[in-house]
Amino acid sequence: MGYQTVYDRSMRDPAAFWAEAAELIDWDKSWDQVLDSSNPPFYHWFSGGMLNTCYNAVDRHVIAGRGNQPAIIHDSPVTQSKTVITYAELQDQTARFAGALRALGVSKGDRVIIYMPMVPEALVAMLGCARIGAIHSVVFGGFSSRELATRIDDAKPKVMVAGSCGIETNRVVRYKPLLDAAIDLAEHKPANCLILQRPQDPGTLIDGRDQGWAEALAAAEPAECVSVAATDPLYILYTSGTTGQPKGVVRDNGGHAVAMAWSMSNIYNVEPGEVFWAASDVGWVVGHSYIVYAPLLIGATTIVYEGKPVGTPDAGAFWRVIEDHKVSVLFTAPTAFRAIRRDDPNAEHLKRYNLGDFRALFLAGERCDPATLEWAGQILGVPVVDHWWQTETGWAIAANCLGIEQLPVKPGSPTRAVPGYDVQVLDETGEPVAPGDIGRIMIKLPLPPGCLPTLWGNDARFVQSYLATQPGYYLTGDAGYMDEDGYIFVMSRIDDIINVAGHRLSTGGMEAVLASHPDIAECAVIGAADQLKGELPLGLVVFKSGVARDREIVIKELVNLVRDQIGPVAAFKTVVVVDRLPKTRSGKILRGTMKAIADGKAFNLPATIDDPAILDEIAAALEAIGYAKHG
Ligand code: COA
Ligand code: AMP
Repeated sequence: MGYQTVYDRSMRDPAAFWAEAAELIDWDKSWDQVLDSSNPPFYHWFSGGMLNTCYNAVDRHVIAGRGNQPAIIHDSPVTQSKTVITYAELQDQTARFAGALRALGVSKGDRVIIYMPMVPEALVAMLGCARIGAIHSVVFGGFSSRELATRIDDAKPKVMVAGSCGIETNRVVRYKPLLDAAIDLAEHKPANCLILQRPQDPGTLIDGRDQGWAEALAAAEPAECVSVAATDPLYILYTSGTTGQPKGVVRDNGGHAVAMAWSMSNIYNVEPGEVFWAASDVGWVVGHSYIVYAPLLIGATTIVYEGKPVGTPDAGAFWRVIEDHKVSVLFTAPTAFRAIRRDDPNAEHLKRYNLGDFRALFLAGERCDPATLEWAGQILGVPVVDHWWQTETGWAIAANCLGIEQLPVKPGSPTRAVPGYDVQVLDETGEPVAPGDIGRIMIKLPLPPGCLPTLWGNDARFVQSYLATQPGYYLTGDAGYMDEDGYIFVMSRIDDIINVAGHRLSTGGMEAVLASHPDIAECAVIGAADQLKGELPLGLVVFKSGVARDREIVIKELVNLVRDQIGPVAAFKTVVVVDRLPKTRSGKILRGTMKAIADGKAFNLPATIDDPAILDEIAAALEAIGYAKHG
């Protein structure tokens, strides 16, 4: 069956389409309703159904005879180690970990925050929560204590699970002190912490609160899988919103399992027993979906890579992993390929490796520039698929579905809507725009299985953020267009979110940190184009009158403040001091115009600008630090 036929079926009768896909999952009890539309705009998939996600991702494969097959391969150039965990071993470890959680009083519906580096124990912890129906919330290790504290206060976890440290190319990141500081900062105090002590930097355990991972597991009674409702939450994943307060994206159990399993064969064209590698981090949605759940749900082998595309030790790192572990399909962000190309433009390293088993490369997380897409295709000689999705959806909205039919590629486009997604481009009045015209990219409700049913503890924010703009539609937050062949082109965000090396960040959050500095009167943060990371945050600040301190010292303080309050992942390193910021007559800062100036792009002079002369001042200040070169 071709793409169009499959897509049309998914639109004509979504219930029949997804009921068929649900056969990929083992259910403890079948659903009463495939799609529950009784309370719009809230929709639920497989209501009445019961299952366990960990059983589906682990135990059933052992029962089916995959016990000796590798489930996880941990490849860690930063610790120079490789570890294989079979499905049988994974079952044992998750059961023990779940037992350790249970011994700490964790049961169905309780939250557990996981703050870990790229080690297999992170997956064990996630699956162990799923095993007993506890809700995990993984926080990326590159976030600061303050960000972690915000998530602790929102999710109110009973237990925290952390690694004692993470290992970056240039340093050991001590997670344990960050964890302790976060708990100090938070109002909610988790009762216990389970700490994976890593030899590179074991943490100091706090008596009565903290327990070592190894000891806790050794003492634990293995726990069985607990049946949960399809509509019960599996996890919460916080992502940047337009305010400093992150959004807790909720994922359910049933719809998620179905979407994950369906996507593996239909989008990625990967079969059980094959090796799939998502080079991301478990702290991001790509990690949740394609390092952990999707590959394991179908009985594939997943790679957990603790390293970078370059520098661990060189730009051949990805090819080495693909050869060593016979990877079939790789999924990463375009920025990783830009980094490889920067270090090794002629792909000399590739000549040292045999990529015989490698079939396809998938890229997502940020807009994929055609040059990177074409370069990757040329050097690898396999299909390179740009696909578009977001934390909220949990899986691809638009993709070239290699398992259905490989469509012709149009560089710059993540191809067409994935079956299940009714993607439309609408103008500000809610009318569809003509092919080729830019508008808001929206998805007609209901969203397919696997997408967020709500935000954690905040139905009102869910409706207001995503569903209120155009009743009956989900607002993706992206702007772009669809051509006459139905190819989608995602061009930019319509909010303050920027994308730094495939990491989603809010400039509003950074502005709030800068504004808290005593010398700053006002500020703006924009995402300036960057050849490697796609975008990099650039701060423009105005000093309070009378402040006569050394500019360079204040700039250093501001950079450190963002690193401390948000984390190194913000990659906030550039600040320029200006006398004033361009504004509209009603006082709105013209961030878009400043971004155009920084990127050296043409722009229309905003009709409502207060004083156009400011734009020349901004251009001069940006030119002085190497921006605005082609204006
Ligand atoms: N724990 C602690 N710190 C972390 C971290 C973690 N898990 N991950 C990153 N950081 C730190 C880095 O050390 C760096 O700190 P620095 O300012 O002291 O150098 C900072 O956060 C920015 O990290 P990163 O964005 O990874 O930049 P980089 O310069 O170290 O590497 C790339 C650049 C392109 C190689 C890197 O971004 C990459 O591999 N990207 C792949 C794409 C990807 O994983 N995308 C995720 C979504 S799919
Ligand atoms: P995240 O929630 O971190 O996955 O970020 C999602 C956002 O990243 C999307 O809303 C887009 O703005 C951007 N994005 C992800 N994938 C793509 C892509 N293939 N093309 C363009 N933008 C993308």
